[in-house]
Amino acid sequence: MREYDFLVVGSGVAGLTFALEAARHGSVAVLTKREAETSNTAWAQGGICCVADPEDSFDAHVADTLGAGAGLCDEAVVRTIVEAAPAAIGAMVARGVEFDRAEGGGFALGKEGGHTHRRILHARDTTGREIAQKLLAAARAEPGIELLESHFAIDLITTAKLDRAGPNRVVGLYALAEASGEILTLRSDRVVLCTGGCGRVYLYTTNPKVATGDGVAMAYRAGAQVANMEFVQFHPTCLYHHEVKNFLISEAVRGEGGELVDKNGHAFMHEHDPRGSLAPRDIVARAIDHEIKRTGGPCVYVDITARGKGFIADRFPHIYETCGRLGIDAATEPIPVVPAAHYQCGGVRTDVDGRASLAGLYAVGEVACTGLHGANRLASNSLLEGAVVASRALSAMLEERPPGGGSERFEVPDWISGDAHDVDELVVIFHNWDEIRRLMWDYVSIVRTDKRLQRASTRLQNLRREVEEFYWDFKICSELLELRNLVETASLIVESAQRRHESRGLHYTLDWPDTLDRPLDTVLWKGGK
Ligand code: SIN
Repeated sequence: MREYDFLVVGSGVAGLTFALEAARHGSVAVLTKREAETSNTAWAQGGICCVADPEDSFDAHVADTLGAGAGLCDEAVVRTIVEAAPAAIGAMVARGVEFDRAEGGGFALGKEGGHTHRRILHARDTTGREIAQKLLAAARAEPGIELLESHFAIDLITTAKLDRAGPNRVVGLYALAEASGEILTLRSDRVVLCTGGCGRVYLYTTNPKVATGDGVAMAYRAGAQVANMEFVQFHPTCLYHHEVKNFLISEAVRGEGGELVDKNGHAFMHEHDPRGSLAPRDIVARAIDHEIKRTGGPCVYVDITARGKGFIADRFPHIYETCGRLGIDAATEPIPVVPAAHYQCGGVRTDVDGRASLAGLYAVGEVACTGLHGANRLASNSLLEGAVVASRALSAMLEERPPGGGSERFEVPDWISGDAHDVDELVVIFHNWDEIRRLMWDYVSIVRTDKRLQRASTRLQNLRREVEEFYWDFKICSELLELRNLVETASLIVESAQRRHESRGLHYTLDWPDTLDRPLDTVLWKGGK
């Protein structure tokens, strides 16, 4: 058994910000199931919100966030995070993050859907990569941080699981060390989940392969509350291409004048919302879904040709080059796009300090539901939330249970594999994985109905049973762990969607088209062991 003052799962903006600050106070292990560079953060294109223009204000940023969130945001949380943005950006710049600058030296500010002002700091169209690289370099240089790459967190260890009296709390976790196949017992009184979201539960997603809902599934199994999982954000503009299925065409492209058009070049968004192509994402994704169904075409298009090659290649080099490689010249032709699963707005229920309902457990970033995003996240608020809440979580922990007093002694039993044998046919796992992603796409995506949700629920129940059998019969491997988390997360999304008898933000159902007067969170909790 290894012991740490702080155990962090995930190496995106939330995990690394937390680890870098926590290393000043005790020993830190950062677990990441693949190489540390692979995170949702690293894929973020658009940028990070911060009020930086004299014409803009915190009040306006708060109002835009609340507007997008469709009545379900927690206003106090929104204000706290919005007002902490300048300090969070200052800390990133101090760690070497370089945001694009305007003439005169101030930050160059971009615009995205739902924002009334320019307030998106960016590094061309690879903002997440810039942030992730700089934070990771700092973390690798920090002797107090042990970076455990290719270590897959399997399950949290709780006092309830250990049959100890008193309120349940988290005291560590089991992790699979991929290289040796060994299952490690990691002990800590302060565990932070920064595992990102669950885009891979859907067939089409802008997320990297690692986004399999691991943190939410693990926290739920341990008895933590999970909230608002029905609100999965579909990004309106994922590249539509037969070879590359998860490449994002940043909303910043529309912020710089890109228009959504149909195959005849007709700009259709003003027929759906007065804000046109820059309406909030739930509205734009539904409008595209409607256009695709109406015209029978496979996609719609983003047309940015009016800005000319020089501007496009300079402001969006990654998008311009990637499209070019695939035979699409964004300077002379519209880019084909479809909506795809992009962001999990719900998650492990926490306060603004990342504190989960289960003692000893914190969750920060996309894995968490703080109340910032409500029923629909405002673009580019997520990197901000990760950075701000990570710092707050550390302060809260230092106050609540400062390291240094030594951890309470526990007999934590080692993992027992029993007579489990090696997975003989990975094809079975991949088949179930495909089935989940397909059924979630067909039954639980942009437009929902009671009947489709019921179908999804029935199929998922069968799949859950099957996956549980695999889990007990076979030796643990990462494919099996991801499948187990995927089916758990998909079930949480469906159950949450079934409980919401209204349409609000990202949850739109033909059977309950109205929005209720009183906004309520959907909270799921297993309780106990
Ligand atoms: C984008 O660049 O469109 C993504 C930004 C975000 O999801 O916040």
